Amino acid sequence: GTTLGTAAAEKGRYFGTAVAAYKLSDSTYSGILNREFNMVTPENEMKWDATEPNQNQFSYGSADQIVNYAQSHGMRVRGHALAWHSQQPGWAQNLSGTALRNAMINHITNVAGHYKGKIYAWDVVNEAFADGGGGGRRDSNLQRTGNDWIEVAFRTARAADPGAKLCYNDYNTDDWNQAKTQGVYNMVKDFKARGVPIDCVGFQSHLNNQSPYPSNYRTTLSNFAALGVEVQITELDIEQANTTWYRNVTSDCLAVAACAGITVWGIRDSDSWRSSQNPLLFDGSGNKKAAYTAVLDALNSG
Ligand code: G3I
Repeated sequence: GTTLGTAAAEKGRYFGTAVAAYKLSDSTYSGILNREFNMVTPENEMKWDATEPNQNQFSYGSADQIVNYAQSHGMRVRGHALAWHSQQPGWAQNLSGTALRNAMINHITNVAGHYKGKIYAWDVVNEAFADGGGGGRRDSNLQRTGNDWIEVAFRTARAADPGAKLCYNDYNTDDWNQAKTQGVYNMVKDFKARGVPIDCVGFQSHLNNQSPYPSNYRTTLSNFAALGVEVQITELDIEQANTTWYRNVTSDCLAVAACAGITVWGIRDSDSWRSSQNPLLFDGSGNKKAAYTAVLDALNSG
């Protein structure tokens, strides 16, 4: 393949990017998007603060714009994210207990219902595990509603859109030996054993090249896959766009049959949430960087 999307498709995978609705009118941006990518994730437009700014008043304009754009350009959509401790509207931040639990259920029912049939995979729950050595849950208002909030979120999403794959999504879960990775793994194993509906695990992969490359990344991906879930690289970006690391991530995904695809977290460096680190595959002018060629070559090899 001569583009990321076609090369990935030849390997039975997708290649996606985070997209911002307000940039779709930028012809450099949309030109690269249309040429290179066949999956999109709304970067912010489907988050709780964007879709339900006031309780039970839903606002889908920007997210609809991305979904409609994707559909008319033959791209699929990863939904991001239904339940997350961050980017909550103020009214939700001020809720707790049963009121917050019910608000979460209502939110998931409405948002997943609005996009029913249009989403390849939902990040149902995002970033619910703590960093550090404990391997346990992150404290949050959602966690304080009871440890079962995650499975309730998944069951609610399944009921609202039975056709979407339902993912748990997190960062710092690439290294198999990290407590956080083990914590997520044990949750997925437990969900599978008890019939809680989960279909996929997203590995964000915001990588920092000051630490060594997680050489057991493909072990992590295949161990999760062995639980019977699809695995996806969902928010890839790498400090200074280290070409070796980009090549490694791509080949680690391709080495695992259940790794369905890779999504980078933005198109040009200037689009990135950490733009000062130039972490993406295209420079601010939209030119292909060395990391782009490394990824394309890795997709085409083997
Ligand atoms: O849209 C408002 C704008 O109206 C306002 O004037 C401006 C002033 O600050 O803020 C704008 O909103 C910002 C939004 O991005 C859109 O640019 C928010 O402040 C800012 O917090 C938000 O940052 C996003 C961040 O998530 C928090 O939600 C980043 O764009 C986005 O890349 C980042 O993505 C997250 C994933 O969702 C989850 N994993 C980690 C990843 C990186 O942090």
